[in-house]
Amino acid sequence: MELLDIIKLPDPVLRKKSAAVEQVDDDLRRLLDAMLETMYEAPGIGLAAIQVGVPKRIITIDTTRDEGPRKPLYLINPEILTLSDDRSTYEEGCLSIPDYFAEIERPASARVRYVDYDGKQQELQADELLATVIQHEIDHLNGVLFVDYLSKLKRDLVIRKFTKAARLDEREKRKHVAL
Ligand code: NI
Repeated sequence: MELLDIIKLPDPVLRKKSAAVEQVDDDLRRLLDAMLETMYEAPGIGLAAIQVGVPKRIITIDTTRDEGPRKPLYLINPEILTLSDDRSTYEEGCLSIPDYFAEIERPASARVRYVDYDGKQQELQADELLATVIQHEIDHLNGVLFVDYLSKLKRDLVIRKFTKAARLDEREKRKHVAL
């Protein structure tokens, strides 16, 4: 299985709004398989297609981590139907913003409608960690990152740090070409 490259902050692709999937076919399932493996390898518990440069409304999730057998969840065209009034806080990270974590408060539960791996419409009641992951990943489909919920000061600091790192990276790459 070929692993996909994960796009990092501040790549503007991450700000793109993803388009709905029209048809669940083998090409799409191949992409979902590759996304899942890329997510496990990273390792992460959620990945949106835009993070591998594909602006389609699809997400892979597995919140089991090392605890027992894998339980992958594939959400195609996910839609939040309801969010709870009660909220919970998790220390969130993102594969596109490596090694940065911050406490983010979100609705504690979400009811979600989506199309599954076989192209069937499904509904899911998600609570706690799964609810947070689903909201985080659906945000990606709309070009929203979890750092957008931080104060402007904190967000600007993070973005500046990653912009600087990306520039250094570019310079390193150019050096290698010159040699
Ligand atoms: Ni993320």
